[in-house]
Parts: sequence; structure tokens; C-alpha cells
Amino acid sequence: MIITETIDEVRTARRQHALETLGLVTTMGFLHEGHLQLVRRAKAENDRVAATIFVNPKQFGPTEDLSRYPRDLQRDLHLLEAEGVDYVFVPGDEVIYPADYQTVVSVTGITNYLEGARRPTHFDGVTTVVAKLFNIMQPTRAYFGQKDAQQVAVVRQMVRDLNFNLDIVVCPTARETDGLAMSSRNKYLSSEQRRAATALYHALSGAETMWRAGERNSDVLRESMMQVLSIEPLAHVDYISAADPVTLREIEGEIPSDKGILLSMAVFFDKTRLIDNFLLTPAKQD
Ligand code: PAF
Repeated sequence: MIITETIDEVRTARRQHALETLGLVTTMGFLHEGHLQLVRRAKAENDRVAATIFVNPKQFGPTEDLSRYPRDLQRDLHLLEAEGVDYVFVPGDEVIYPADYQTVVSVTGITNYLEGARRPTHFDGVTTVVAKLFNIMQPTRAYFGQKDAQQVAVVRQMVRDLNFNLDIVVCPTARETDGLAMSSRNKYLSSEQRRAATALYHALSGAETMWRAGERNSDVLRESMMQVLSIEPLAHVDYISAADPVTLREIEGEIPSDKGILLSMAVFFDKTRLIDNFLLTPAKQD
């Protein structure tokens, strides 16, 4: 596996197989099984696979966890090598954001809701770095996890709006055996909080069961998720949402029969904020 730290090194590596397809997995490191599933899918669908490891300061708000974000570069590199990744780009901050850096890539609209409403600068940071990584890496396909449902929607919008010449592939959320969505931030949880954190999955699964049984009132689905979370004393709900999967606008009352629904939530366990979602399609009621 080639480890590259500069844009020139990446371009040289990409030039050597310019006619082959490249699958890209962008990460902030501290890799878990969810990232590795993206790598495996990328490997299965492309001639070459590349990954990036960059903890992007621009997507963290001033009170968020940038300085304590978990890092373990050596472990990450071993994991990527074991998966057969061809090359990995590990830039320093100054490579991505040199001193005279001045550009922001901003998707407006769907960034106003859900995560974007609570973390106002977050998605500008994500789209700015992802646009740069796409330009640097020149992938044929880029792989993202459904766990970050709004990130997927925002990146897709950016790819459409700015005519990036690549496909976005979305992979299912990787889960622990008890249902907790895999996340680098799970590392912050105490054993008590880790046990309590399954409440997100239980809340979503309960609402999914109701949906499958024919419940189509979004207020009822939201309320059922809130009930499950409210009996867990360590869980402090930031938001619970039942939103249109395309516009990400909250749906009040009856869900139109031709629409699915994106159930999502952000929940604090002390300072650790976890997110999760289920995307329910109309076909799921069968
Ligand atoms: O999902 C992440 O890990 C990050 O938001 C990403 C896409 C690597 C951009 O920094």
C-alpha cells in the first residue's frame, strides 16, 4: 500500500492507473468495521481502491470535539493494508488548507434541517473537504455510509450541482451485534453509556415495526421513538425526526402514501453525541 502525504504524490499514483476505475473511501480515521465494509465494497466494484484519512477541522463547531477526536494512524494503516487498499492519502492540515486558503463549498437548502440546523457550519466543512478530496483523488466511485444520512444527501447534491464526474455509492449502516451503529465516537462511551446507547436502535426499530404494521402518522412515529428514549436516564435527546427523505423537511401528521420516511435522531450521552437513522420506504410495509 502506498502512503501519500502530498497532492503531487497522489496525482503520480493516480496517473499510473489512469484508465482503471478507482473506488474511494474518505474517512477521519480511527477506523471501525463500518469503514472496512465501505473499503470491501469499493474493492469489489473497482480496479483500485484508495482511502483518505484526514480529521477535517472545518467540519467541527467551536464547542465540538476536534481536539479530543480519537486518532490511531498506525492501526488505521494496518487495517487498510490488510484490506488490500492500493493507496492512502494522509494529508496534514496545511496540505488541505494552506495559509492563503479562501474557498468554501456550500450546499444550501437541505443543510438547513436535522444535523445542519444544530451544527450550522458542519456541512460547509464537509462539502469543502469532500470536494477537494474528490478533485485530488479523482475517484470513479466514492463510498459513504447510510449512518450519516444527511451527509450522503448533501454530498449527492453537491456532486449533481457541481457536475463531479463520479458516482456516490451508499452502503448500509454497520451495527454492533446489539444494534448500536458503529461510530468512531462510540469510543467515548463509558460501559454504562455504551449499554444505554442501544436505546437509539431500539427506538428506531420500534418505529419501524409500527411502520411495517401500517402506521403512517409521523407524529405517532416520533412519539414512539421519544417514549423509548425517555425511559433511558443516560440518554438526552437533541432531536428526533420523521422527515421527507428527499427534502429532509419534517413531515407533520399523515405521511403521503407514495413517500417513505427518514427517521433520525441525535442523542447525547453526557458530552458524546450519537446519531442514527432508518430510511423506511413505502415497500417496507409489505
Ligand atoms: O464521514 C466522515 O468521516 C467525514 O464527514 C468525511 C466524509 C470523511 C469528511 O471529512
